Amino acid sequence: HCGAQLLSAALTSRPQVQRVLLALTPTLEKLQEVKGRVLEALEQGLSRQSGARSTMQMLPTFICSTPDGTGETALLDAVPGMGSHVRTLWVTLTGDGNQSPQLMYHVFEMPEDITQGSGEALFDFIAQCVKNFLEEIGNPQHRLPLGFIFPFSCRQTGLDKAELISWSKGFRCSDVEGKDVVQLLQAAISKQEVGAVWGSRLGGLPHAENLMVPRSGTNCCFMAESHLLEMAEVTSGRMCVNSEWGCLGDDGALDDVLTPCDHRVDQESSNPGERRFEKMVGSLYLGEIVRHAMLMLASEQALFIGRNTSILATKAVLTTQQVLEIMDNEDGMAKAQGILEALGLQPSERDCCRVQQLCRAVVSRAAALSAMGLAAVLSHMCRSRQLERLVVNVGVDGGLYHTSARFGEILRSVVGLLAPECAANLMPSADVSGLGAAMVTAVALRTVAQRNNMERLLAPLRLSRTDLQRVQALMRQEMERGLDRERNAESSLRMLPTYVCHTPDGTERGKFLALDLGGTNFRVLVVHVAEDNIDITNEIYVIPTAVMQGTGEALFNHIMECIMDFQMKQELMDQVLPLGFTFSFPCQQLGLDKAVLLNWTKGFSASGCVGQDVVQMLREAAQRKQHTALKVVAVVNDTVGTMMACGYHDPKCEIGLIVGTGTNTCYMEERAKVGTMDGDEGRMCINMEWGAFGDNGCLDDFFTSFDRLVDEKSINAGKQKFEKLISGMYLGEIVRQILLALVEEQVLFCGKSSHKLQNRDIFQTKFLSTIETPGLALVQVQGILSNLELDASYEDSVLVREVCQTVSLRAAHLCAAGMAAVVEKMRESRGLEQLTVTVGVDGTLYKMHPHFSRNLQQMLQELAPLCNVTFLQSEDGSGKGAALVAAVACRGADPSSPQ
Ligand code: BG6
Ligand code: GLC
Repeated sequence: HCGAQLLSAALTSRPQVQRVLLALTPTLEKLQEVKGRVLEALEQGLSRQSGARSTMQMLPTFICSTPDGTGETALLDAVPGMGSHVRTLWVTLTGDGNQSPQLMYHVFEMPEDITQGSGEALFDFIAQCVKNFLEEIGNPQHRLPLGFIFPFSCRQTGLDKAELISWSKGFRCSDVEGKDVVQLLQAAISKQEVGAVWGSRLGGLPHAENLMVPRSGTNCCFMAESHLLEMAEVTSGRMCVNSEWGCLGDDGALDDVLTPCDHRVDQESSNPGERRFEKMVGSLYLGEIVRHAMLMLASEQALFIGRNTSILATKAVLTTQQVLEIMDNEDGMAKAQGILEALGLQPSERDCCRVQQLCRAVVSRAAALSAMGLAAVLSHMCRSRQLERLVVNVGVDGGLYHTSARFGEILRSVVGLLAPECAANLMPSADVSGLGAAMVTAVALRTVAQRNNMERLLAPLRLSRTDLQRVQALMRQEMERGLDRERNAESSLRMLPTYVCHTPDGTERGKFLALDLGGTNFRVLVVHVAEDNIDITNEIYVIPTAVMQGTGEALFNHIMECIMDFQMKQELMDQVLPLGFTFSFPCQQLGLDKAVLLNWTKGFSASGCVGQDVVQMLREAAQRKQHTALKVVAVVNDTVGTMMACGYHDPKCEIGLIVGTGTNTCYMEERAKVGTMDGDEGRMCINMEWGAFGDNGCLDDFFTSFDRLVDEKSINAGKQKFEKLISGMYLGEIVRQILLALVEEQVLFCGKSSHKLQNRDIFQTKFLSTIETPGLALVQVQGILSNLELDASYEDSVLVREVCQTVSLRAAHLCAAGMAAVVEKMRESRGLEQLTVTVGVDGTLYKMHPHFSRNLQQMLQELAPLCNVTFLQSEDGSGKGAALVAAVACRGADPSSPQ
């Protein structure tokens, strides 16, 4: 009935009234357009560079988790609300997701003069309220964590650090702007001798990722992808961002939806030109907009004709509460009558009807604009999470939303229209607004406790610059000892001569067979070194674990069978090609084609090989297979093969590095410094076997409990200790040990492990590479974990990623420390101020891991600033290098050398 009455009123209304109503009703297209601009401002606000130019400040809140309702206990929350009161609450969270929190609260009226007085007085007042409240509930001594909702624009630098940027909503206390409000409150509270403070300005709802507050002001916060939030310098997970969207439009972005009434409201406000969006949406201003609309229409003789309307020129004679009452379908007309009469306007029925229309238009617009802003935020969330559809809970708080059903309906439907790709479930945070702060505090306590546990466990893995310098110095010392004839046995570095005295000079020619044994793949190759290119054909063969760990005879038989198969396929059976053998295990070389295996590494343990010449073993296997056309001319370590292969392209390449299944380095040393060999002329390539660095105990300080477990359970306990901190064979296993410990400490997976995770080596090193891939959606991390039967939450995934990062960063840094010792030694041995050198590098970890190489190179530069080191990745494996060594050997070969 009333609706029909209104409709006819609208139809018969004056053109002036229609004009004002129309201006207050932005079309859907217009809202869509403005949403586009808001989205832009939002994304600009997130970026460090353009952030300062954006109207949306996107302030980090350091809240990185939404509540899960567990482990939270008693809390206290102080809330200075809409300008006139402080609300204190006591919240008990039972930790049972099904039970709602228990609350006790008290609202203290705040005298008007406090809002305009000194900051000290304001905080003393709040502290006094807290004290009275605690006494009232009989708990004055209890030290409780305190959540603090402080609904003003603040720059947060931590969860409990918030500097007030500027007052708004009528507050103007001195000496607060630019200061940390948590500290001010803390100081006031210590004067009162009450409990400890945990500060936070924005509340959240359980399971809501987005909170919108259209109260006296308006604002919105949401869980943003941290990597987009450049200001916070946190790269993984999500962090709650306070958008401060009240400032939208301060750059003119809302100009085409602003009406003359809005301009007048703005002009009369204490901060003209600022917070334009808030002045259209915040409840502090809605009464004022309607008042100005009435004033304009009255002056145009379209309202209150013939009445004295001067009262309408007085600020705040109509409150937002009254606007909401007038809107009401049931008794709105009567309310309008009463309210307008009280202002002495003697309204006609038609006046009342028109004022009701104005009120509805203003509130509907506030809802539509809020929806527009929310749609922009939701679209951003959907896009940045790379989702086709975002399903999210939005906590909505504020008087407007709670008192006006219409506001909620419009909000809901317009959000649906403007962000159709998002399903937003609006949840009223009706209970008490301070609950949010309590929740945040509880979450903070939980995450802080988790974080502390995690930090405690990971701390020994985080190596400082000083630690790395120590490792570098130790490596240097062990290198010196390893090269010294007398002290060689004391050193954990064997520093093995390789009999390779030159890097390639480009004159090598010929066709060679090559073997590449000891990395992930066993390969047989034929390498054709021509004048302007090297042509390679190769085949990968599998070496079953049973063969790796069986007898030496079986291993070399298997290798021979692979060679013969390859020769058949390549039709090379009747050619006697010289063979270069990459054998990537520690060998004492007695010549280029004589290499005695010192010990196995990397999961090999074939019996009867240690102490034997591997070339001889290969020849014997050839005899057993009646293969007479095998001519082994050189055996090289994979580091040497890699250095040679890269050296063919870059003459500065005088170092070979492998970071794969195992890790090792070789480099060109001055012969005069190689005390373990006779001869002073020229250089020789030294295979450091740095994987064994620390086997004499010199690295024990850096070993964590996780590393010890990994070592103890390996097939060569106590051996290859440096390798076990760095290489692909072990990193996944270190991560697995850490995850087990974190589960034990209840930090991960709600304290529940899986059967699968109990298996050694189940967490592969390639998982680290995937998990650490920049921009990888966390659902993919969850995928990897769920294959291990682990039920990972979003936050678990973030923590697992951090574990991986810590382990791989340590590996890269240790590798850098080792390499720093090598290049510095080369520089000094050559008596150079500056060394320019290239490292030829290979290995799956180095090649596949997204950050390893960068982390290694950056740290190397810091540790060895006088060396200019370039890294060159080997493309075709080390077999090519073995062939090049064979080529040199053949050139100078004695034709009668053993076949
Ligand atoms: C290969 C080389 O490319 O890399 C091998 O050809 C070397 O000789 C290997 O052993 C090292 O990496 P991974 O990851 O296979 O152990
Ligand atoms: C192991 C081997 C070494 C090899 C390295 C890389 O450390 O002992 O010889 O170079 O792995 O494959």
